[in-house]
Amino acid sequence: MSASLLRSRIAAQTTGVRAARQRIANEQRRNASSSPRSTGSSAKALVYGTALAASTLFAYFYTTDTRAFVHRWVVPPMMRIIFPDAEDAHHAGTAALKSLYALNMHPRERVKEAEELKTEVFGTEVKNPIGISAGLDKDGEIPDVLFDLGAGIVEVGGCTPLPQGGNPKPRVFRVPGLDGMVNRYGLNSRGADDMAIRLRDRLRRFARSIGVTEADVLNDNAGVPPGSLKSGRLLAVQIAKNKDTDGSNEKAVADDHVYCVKRLAPYADILVVNVSSPNTPGLRDLQATGPLTRLLSAVVDEASRTNRKNKPKVMVKVSPDEDDDDQVSGIVAAVANSGVDGIIVGNTTKRRTGLAPQGARLTAREQKALAEDGGYSGPALFERTVRLVGKYRQHLQASSLKEGDEQKTLFATGGITNGHQALQVLNAGASVAMVYTGMVYGGAGTVTRIKGEMRDEIRAGKA
Ligand SMILES: Cc1cc2nc3c(=O)[nH]c(=O)nc-3n(C[C@H](O)[C@H](O)[C@H](O)COP(=O)(O)O)c2cc1C
Repeated sequence: MSASLLRSRIAAQTTGVRAARQRIANEQRRNASSSPRSTGSSAKALVYGTALAASTLFAYFYTTDTRAFVHRWVVPPMMRIIFPDAEDAHHAGTAALKSLYALNMHPRERVKEAEELKTEVFGTEVKNPIGISAGLDKDGEIPDVLFDLGAGIVEVGGCTPLPQGGNPKPRVFRVPGLDGMVNRYGLNSRGADDMAIRLRDRLRRFARSIGVTEADVLNDNAGVPPGSLKSGRLLAVQIAKNKDTDGSNEKAVADDHVYCVKRLAPYADILVVNVSSPNTPGLRDLQATGPLTRLLSAVVDEASRTNRKNKPKVMVKVSPDEDDDDQVSGIVAAVANSGVDGIIVGNTTKRRTGLAPQGARLTAREQKALAEDGGYSGPALFERTVRLVGKYRQHLQASSLKEGDEQKTLFATGGITNGHQALQVLNAGASVAMVYTGMVYGGAGTVTRIKGEMRDEIRAGKA
C-alpha cells in the first residue's frame, strides 16, 4: 500500500470517528433537553391511570352494593320503560343477574347481618327471617344471586314434573299506581329433570370448591345445609302438578308430586307443595281436607326416602282466598294428619275488591291490568296476610293442643314491602316474611332495606 493511500484511509477513518462522536454528542444533547418533558408525561399518565383505576373500583363497589341508590330508584323504573311487557322485564332481569354473577359483578349485600335478626327455622339457625318467594326464580337459575341479595330463605320454582309452557302471552301485567301486579303465568316450568340437573351441578361445583365429595355435602359433612350450600341460609324448592294432569285423579296428582320429590328433594332444604296458584284450573280444589291429606302424605312419605342424612322438610303453600274458618281448619287438619312441617300462608289473590285506596287515580292501562284474569299481588294484600297468619297460628295451636304435636312452622307471603310489616307478620306467628312484588318495584336492595328497617325498629325498642 502506498504512503499516500494509507494517509487518505487514516484521514477518512478519523473523519468517520469525528462524525460518530458528533452524532453521539447530538443525541445526548437531545436526550438531555427532552427528559423533563418525558418525566412530566409519565407523571400525568400515572395520575390518570390511578384516577381511572380508583373510579373503576369505586363504580364496582358502588354498583355491586345492594344499598346503591341506582338499584332502587333507577333500575326498576328503567326496566318498566325499556320493557313495556312485564314478562320480558322478568326474563331480562334474570338473564342479567345470571351473567353478572358469572363475572362476579352482581349486586350483593355488603352490610353485616344484624344479630337481632337471627332466627331458628326447622332447627337451623338462619341469619335473618326474610325470604324471597316462589316465582321470581322459576327454574332455579339464580339461587346464589338471590342469597347474595341478603335473603335468609330463597324459594325456587314452582317446578312441574314435565316441562310446560304456561298460559299464552301476555300474562303478566303491572299496576304501578298500586305497586302491584297481575299474573297468570300458569306455572311455566322447564320441568323437574332440568332443575335437578342444574341444582346437582351447583352442588358438585360447591363440593369440588371445598375439596369434599357430593355425598359429604348431602350428608351434612360440609358445614352447610345441602340445599342452600350457605351457612345460616335455607333453599326451598317448590313443586306442583302439570296443568294436563287431571286434578280429580288423586293418584295422578300424587304421582306428579312424587316424581318432583324424587328428582329435587336431595337439593332442597325445604320442599313446598303448591296447591294455591290461581292460574292452574282446579289446583286450589286440592286444598279440600281429604285430597290434601292424601297428597301431602304421599309427598312426606317420598321425602322421607331421600338419600340423605337429614331429609328435607315439607311445607304446603295455601291460598289467601280460602280464608274462612272451615277452610282454614280443614287445611290445618290435613297438615296435622299428613305430618307436613309447615305452611306458607298466602299467594296471589283472585279477588279484586279493596285493592285501590279511596281516591286513588289509576290510568286506563292500570285499570285494564287490574281487570285481567290472574292473581293480584302487591302491598294491598298485606292486611289480609297478617290476619290470615294469625288465623292459621290460632288453628294450629288448637290442633296441636288436641294432638299433643309440636308447633308447625309458618312463612308469610303477600304484600310485605317494609321492615315494619315484616315484624308484624312475625309477631302474628310467622317465622319468615317473604317478598316478591316488593322486589319488582323496590329493586335489588329491597331485602337489605327491609332488614335495616327491622333492625332499627328492634333497636329503638318499638318491636
Ligand atoms: C309474576 C309472579 C309469578 C309468581 N309465580 C309463583 C309461582 O310459581 N309459585 C307460587 O307459589 N307463587 C308464585 N307467585 C306468588 C308469589 O310467590 C307471592 O306469594 C305473591 O306474589 C304474594 O307476595 P307479594 O305480594 O310479595 O308478591 C308469583 C307471583 C308473581 C307476581
